[in-house]
Amino acid sequence: MSHARVAILLSGGGSNMLALLDSMQGDHPARPCLVLSNDPDAGGLIRAAARGVPTAAVDHRPFAGDRAAFEAELMKPLVAARPDIICLAGFMRVLTADFVSHWQGRMLNIHPSLLPLYRGLHTHARALEAGDREHGCSVHEVTAELDDGPVLGQARVAVLPGDDAATLAARVLEQEHALYPAVLRRFAAGERQPILLG
Ligand code: GRF
Repeated sequence: MSHARVAILLSGGGSNMLALLDSMQGDHPARPCLVLSNDPDAGGLIRAAARGVPTAAVDHRPFAGDRAAFEAELMKPLVAARPDIICLAGFMRVLTADFVSHWQGRMLNIHPSLLPLYRGLHTHARALEAGDREHGCSVHEVTAELDDGPVLGQARVAVLPGDDAATLAARVLEQEHALYPAVLRRFAAGERQPILLG
């Protein structure tokens, strides 16, 4: 069978990318075709290359605020890789509606909160501040509205006494590594029924 081609976009160490790479084996319907970063020094690029996955980087800094120009460059290696699915995995750049519309329906993101709670940044600190008893992560389809697309999966963790943003983030990240591969496998098989872990 021909596998679905998956491009992964990241900005940092790529622990989610690694979990996705490790899952795309055997009878999994997808295989990685590219790991792409907005930071040429992203640790995830080295880890992907070490696993034989093609990598590319488009530094966003020379484009200083001209999102469209940055995205026009980002599109080049991405289109060349012919992805069927794009996974944003710790990708820290906001994408324009034009870019999103080009890939809409084929682009996923993982966000470290139980959406629709806490769109945007500093999700763990905000959950602690609110006194939430539980927290977690969500995988959703990417739409023009930030962190707002249809949720395809969630994983929940308990907020424990004595938690700070770092300990809570670590517990959530562990669940991200289980959730994202589970959702990608289903998405690549054409399934859209949301899943709930934890
Ligand atoms: C983590 O904070 C994670 O919650 C979010 O992106 C950040 C980096 O993830 N999805 P990774 O280790 O680079 O995958």
